[in-house]
Amino acid sequence: MDVKKVINALNKAIALEHAAVLQYQQHALLVSGLWRRVFADFFSAHSKDSLDHAHKFGQKVVALGGVPTVEIGTSVRQSTDLEEMLQQDLQLERETMQAYLEAHELAAGDVALRTMLESHIESEQRDIEELEMYLGMVKTKGIEREVNLRRVK
Ligand SMILES: [Fe+2]
Repeated sequence: MDVKKVINALNKAIALEHAAVLQYQQHALLVSGLWRRVFADFFSAHSKDSLDHAHKFGQKVVALGGVPTVEIGTSVRQSTDLEEMLQQDLQLERETMQAYLEAHELAAGDVALRTMLESHIESEQRDIEELEMYLGMVKTKGIEREVNLRRVK
């Protein structure tokens, strides 16, 4: 295993997590109207999760003898439209997933790191699926329909 390459790959993922910390935080601040009731907390929680992820893999970079990056991996995107926010977050999560998959590929000789990445990739995939589900609902106005149905009952 090329440790330098693994450290670089992990740092790429960490830098993208840093972007996610700021992007989710900004979306939590900007989401407005009725959506704010649901999504402000959702975005805030994801911002904190992204910071935890950066910290978790930062510790691994240190353990491997490297220095965790303090860079922001991509530009932070913002919007005042919920659908656009969710699309921006989904795109960033998919990019981050790619970075974790690359690190996993390079970590062939390190069972502990591979296992750590596998469990992390599985939980990141659940986040992606959740975003896809919300995006689908917002697109088809499914949430409004659900609210209306509840009102009828
Ligand atoms: Fe993450």
